[in-house]
Amino acid sequence: MTRLCLTLCRPTLEENLEDLKNSSPDLAELRIDLLTDLESYPRGSLLSFPEKAGLPLILTCRKTADGGAWSGTDSQREALLLELMEGGYSYIDLEEDEDSKALHRKAREKGILIIRSFHDFLSVPEDLEERLESMSHRGDLVKAALMPRGINDLLILFQAGRTWQERHPGEDRLIILGMGAYGVPSRILAPLMGCFLTFCSPPGAEAAPGHMSWETLHELYRVQELTAETGLYGIIGNPVLHTRSPQIHNPGFRAAGINAVYVPFTVDDLDAFFTLANFLNISGFSVTVPHKEAVRAFLQQEDEAVQVVGACNTVVRMKGSRQGWEGFNTDVIGFIEPLKEKIPTLKEKKAAVIGAGGAARSAVFALLQEGCELSIFNRSENRALQMAEEFCCAGGSLDSFKEKTDSGETYDLIIQTTTVGMGEGKPEEEQENPIPFFAFTGKEVLYDIIYIPRETPLMAKASRAGCTVLGGMPMLLEQGRAQFRLFTGTNL
Ligand code: ATR
Repeated sequence: MTRLCLTLCRPTLEENLEDLKNSSPDLAELRIDLLTDLESYPRGSLLSFPEKAGLPLILTCRKTADGGAWSGTDSQREALLLELMEGGYSYIDLEEDEDSKALHRKAREKGILIIRSFHDFLSVPEDLEERLESMSHRGDLVKAALMPRGINDLLILFQAGRTWQERHPGEDRLIILGMGAYGVPSRILAPLMGCFLTFCSPPGAEAAPGHMSWETLHELYRVQELTAETGLYGIIGNPVLHTRSPQIHNPGFRAAGINAVYVPFTVDDLDAFFTLANFLNISGFSVTVPHKEAVRAFLQQEDEAVQVVGACNTVVRMKGSRQGWEGFNTDVIGFIEPLKEKIPTLKEKKAAVIGAGGAARSAVFALLQEGCELSIFNRSENRALQMAEEFCCAGGSLDSFKEKTDSGETYDLIIQTTTVGMGEGKPEEEQENPIPFFAFTGKEVLYDIIYIPRETPLMAKASRAGCTVLGGMPMLLEQGRAQFRLFTGTNL
């Protein structure tokens, strides 16, 4: 089992103890170099910390040259570590190039296990496998913390993990992780590389890309339960770490009793991702911006919605004798189902679609399938006209929409598909409305597909006028439900 190790990185021991109380890791790493005024820190409290913490502790004093905050001399550091090794620490982290015989001897004498570590804050070195091998003779455990610069680096990291497992079957002493956004899957899927531990951050410290709290790794990704039999799913995008999809699928797997995990992959290179997907035997994945169109080049089969909309948001590995990947578009069903709940009969309803981007295409396809009478209005008129021609409906600029409504034209449905109004935590005065001129009569149904914020300025205005209003959250959930069915054959 891969353990969850909480990094204790606060400026005081009291705050670090507080962090320990708020989660239940299997072990923790005390970064003494991050303590304020370490050299004059009371030795007694540092020595008694492992007992107070009540779980196995890694003692780490990282130098500035290695990405830490220790700025004293090497001999001062050695003396401090030798002193603290009397204090009941279970492990000590020593850098690859640390060759103090005294530290080594003391570790042996005290039964403290040595974690030989190296950090690369810029890349994943090509000779990673050899580096791990050569460190393996100089420590009880081996740790590599690397900075993947893209998905190809992440692949090298996973490959090195597998090679290690093949060379060291049954050994429980590898720690390998990718930092930053590209590294996230390696932290979650550490058990697939047979890792001894994966690190989690205290609450509030997850702000740095790639850092996840104990709760996230334990509750959401259930890292300690992942095995070689666990089905792998995920989402690809760039950026992707903000998406809510892991919060839909992972609890879904849990509720359905399915041994599977859903992981966010930041993807810069689709070709490299498909190589990784085959290497890890990923069963299926969601696709988000900017890959929804480009992913089609890698599919062996597509459903009708992908073909008409020109975008794919769900990819599933084909089963049985069929080799390759099949693409689906669940944005279409995700869009229409919540609307049908509000208006069961959409046939001949008059709809104005605002926007002519990717999101509009799913909406237009779905509304036309239901028999709506459609007009597409967009800031850039030519985009609206092109789309209107392609889908055989009316179209024009936002100005022409204004002219029509000024002259008394009415619509049953206003479908807002632009990015205007989007954004978490923006002050109200900065939130925008793509059709500020539009005066709701109260009879329209407004469907704004934005889900953050829950209520856009346009939605607020329509509500005030007495309209029926639908936001983007039900669409997100519905498209997720449809994906879940495609992934598992089970309803969420
Ligand atoms: P998506 O795939 O999310 O729809 P997109 O393809 O970039 O993203 O489309 C964004 C949509 O929001 C477009 O319709 C865009 O209008 P343009 O085609 O004129 O760019 C619209 N949009 C973005 N910013 C806008 C703004 N400030 N006012 C009005 N429409 C805007």
